[in-house]
Amino acid sequence: MSFDRSIKIAPSILSADFANFGQEIQAVEREGADWIHVDVMDGHFVPNLTFGPMAVKAFRPHVKTVMDVHLMISPVDQYIDAYADAGADILTAHVEAGPHIHRTLQAIRGAGMKAGVALNPSTPAEAVEHVLDLTDLVCVMTVNPGFGGQKFIDMTAKIRKLRALIGDRPIHIEIDGGVDPNTAPLVVDAGADVLVAGSAVFRGGSVENPSPYGENIRAIKASVAG
Ligand code: DX5
Ligand code: ZN
Repeated sequence: MSFDRSIKIAPSILSADFANFGQEIQAVEREGADWIHVDVMDGHFVPNLTFGPMAVKAFRPHVKTVMDVHLMISPVDQYIDAYADAGADILTAHVEAGPHIHRTLQAIRGAGMKAGVALNPSTPAEAVEHVLDLTDLVCVMTVNPGFGGQKFIDMTAKIRKLRALIGDRPIHIEIDGGVDPNTAPLVVDAGADVLVAGSAVFRGGSVENPSPYGENIRAIKASVAG
């Protein structure tokens, strides 16, 4: 994985057909997805429940791009090796998930993955200031985590602050929640380069009729071009 700040669309398979993940991943990649975003929820840190490491491992052979795994779980550290074994390329933990995010990021890198740190809407940019040298990606939540299809919360001031804190370090700024062709220009203008989108990518399409996935991805890209 080489680093660049080009705009990348990372469809969240939370909005895919849950009986058909392998084909959904293949379809959305064929239609132009840059990364695949996998939302892991534990029913404790967030109210919803999704994928354990066995499910993520089953997705892996279908992902030809980058498997971006977003942990919305607490505690985190005891599961890091299992998600490494499952084949995550990037593993993101929430700064709110425990008191020792520094140790968590070290452990993620130590297990051979890129390390991401996510911020809930109420958490300030400065919460990650002192761990940036251990970080490959900062995920700015633009919804309260737990569900797809929620309304975008404007975090552009936080994104600008993070962009300044990051400087020229090779760290992605990823936006997660409510991204569509209306909101994408706001966050890209503020400094984001990875756009997670669930409902805005998967709406209108299916494995049998995947072309809307491509149209949706191109619409988001077109909204931020130039
Ligand atoms: C929310 C998840 C998101 C979510 C995005 O907890 O982290 O990745 O699936 O879905 P949309 O794009 O529908 O807001
Ligand atoms: Zn996510």
